[in-house]
Amino acid sequence: MNKIVIAIDGFSSTGKSTIAKRLANQLNYIYVDTGAMYRAVTYFALKNDFIKNKKLDSEALISSLEAINISFKFNDELGFAEVYLNGENIESEIRTLEVSSYVSPVATLSEVRRKLVEQQQLMGKGKGIVMDGRDIGTVVFPDAELKIFMTASAETRAKRRFKELLERGHNLSYDEVLENVTTRDRIDSTREDSPLVIADDAIEIDNSDLTIEEQVETILKLVNKAIKKD
Ligand code: DC
Repeated sequence: MNKIVIAIDGFSSTGKSTIAKRLANQLNYIYVDTGAMYRAVTYFALKNDFIKNKKLDSEALISSLEAINISFKFNDELGFAEVYLNGENIESEIRTLEVSSYVSPVATLSEVRRKLVEQQQLMGKGKGIVMDGRDIGTVVFPDAELKIFMTASAETRAKRRFKELLERGHNLSYDEVLENVTTRDRIDSTREDSPLVIADDAIEIDNSDLTIEEQVETILKLVNKAIKKD
């Protein structure tokens, strides 16, 4: 059966990665969480004190980009690939609100985007990939056979994210999470380089009232159609 590229874009916390992981497992495709790559760069910047007094030293980060090596390794128990920075598993370190607060400014830097997009394009060369992010259908794989754009109201997304962070033991308020979600939406959609926009040929799915199963089922039907067309 033909393998295709599935691009899933959308706003923060729309549940893209949950759906993308399920699809990849069912189709036996590779799943790549590109947000984790931008988070890994942000984690590197924090670790190296390139973010001090809430200010990002873009020049210092850009001149250290060569020292950043991001990779993914499949974890059989979890059923998805975890992200590594220079050989260190940082999957849980990149999910903190601190990383979430700085990741959008880091992701505005063209030098960072160029490096990560190049790696993403290499990973998708053999097709059979589900990649989620903000610019997958527009910049990384403009020729992807299937493009999905996920949306849900900011409140729905903040509620989901808040629940997830509480379950992981983070201590924070719903208002902080809502503020982070809406700020990231604004920065991601208005940045100059590769802003979050819906590709002309993307299929929009508002998942505010859809279960995970319903979303996976809907997208699998679209995958079958796309494979037949290819
Ligand atoms: O998907 P996420 O919330 O983990 O992504 C974190 C941030 O990374 C997001 O706010 C914007 C940025 N990002 C991006 O600019 N381009 C991508 N392809 C993926 C994420």
